[in-house]
Amino acid sequence: MRVFRTSKSLVEHLSFETRPIGMVPTMGALHQGHLSLIERAVEENKTALISIFINPTQFDDKTDLDDYPVNINEDLRLIGEISNDIIVYVPEANDVYGNIVKSEYFDLGGLDLVMEGEKREGHFQGVATVVTHFLKTFSPDHAYFGEKDFQQLLIISHITRSLKLKTKVIGCPTIRESNGLAMSSRNILLSADHKRLASKLFEGLTFAKSITKKVPYKKVKSMVIDFFENQSELKLDYFKITDPETLKEIDLEKFSHRGRGFIAAYLGKIRLIDNLDMS
Ligand code: PAF
Repeated sequence: MRVFRTSKSLVEHLSFETRPIGMVPTMGALHQGHLSLIERAVEENKTALISIFINPTQFDDKTDLDDYPVNINEDLRLIGEISNDIIVYVPEANDVYGNIVKSEYFDLGGLDLVMEGEKREGHFQGVATVVTHFLKTFSPDHAYFGEKDFQQLLIISHITRSLKLKTKVIGCPTIRESNGLAMSSRNILLSADHKRLASKLFEGLTFAKSITKKVPYKKVKSMVIDFFENQSELKLDYFKITDPETLKEIDLEKFSHRGRGFIAAYLGKIRLIDNLDMS
């Protein structure tokens, strides 16, 4: 495995590598969800590039940034188990941003103004800044992102199209624990009891899916809200079914089986999100 700390040395190295190049941007603390993206990048490309960088501009909360799990040695070990030919980029913030660590401003077509965008100010501008920087700098042919962060995936697809970047963005299915909990780096912060409670997000989504053809959306929504009323420490933040491309919430009077369900909840200070195709 070759590990690069600077984009300059990496760009030079990539010019000798065979295309297609598949990139998986990550913030480390790798889990099975990331590993499935990395495996796919290895299978579908001649060269696989993984970045590990906790991007400060996408955190609206300093404590969340400070608490973000870091485990670089274990990350490198897991990557090495997939293949020793993978290229890993592990920069410091100044290699990505220079001296001023701040987001650029992008028109994200309003996709950044709902759900996670509404709750986490500036989050998607930070994501768009770092991802477009990587795609422009390394010009991968393919870039892989998990559907767990479906809103992020749509926003990255949107910005890649509008900036006419040559990279094809590929969305990959959410990987789940056996109880349905979507894999996430933040799960490491959950106790066994909290993991059991956190799996209620997926339970809520599958329950919603099971009734979307039977009752109008307004009823689905109120039944899901009721389902979360008695889940002790788990506090529902939102549940919505939206058009899967525009993220506009569907009409309350209509049936919602063609939409995508999105859910967010707090377990103590930890924010959990999940989503599911309702069809
Ligand atoms: O999904 C993530 O881990 C991050 O948002 C990403 C895409 C690596 C950008 O920092």
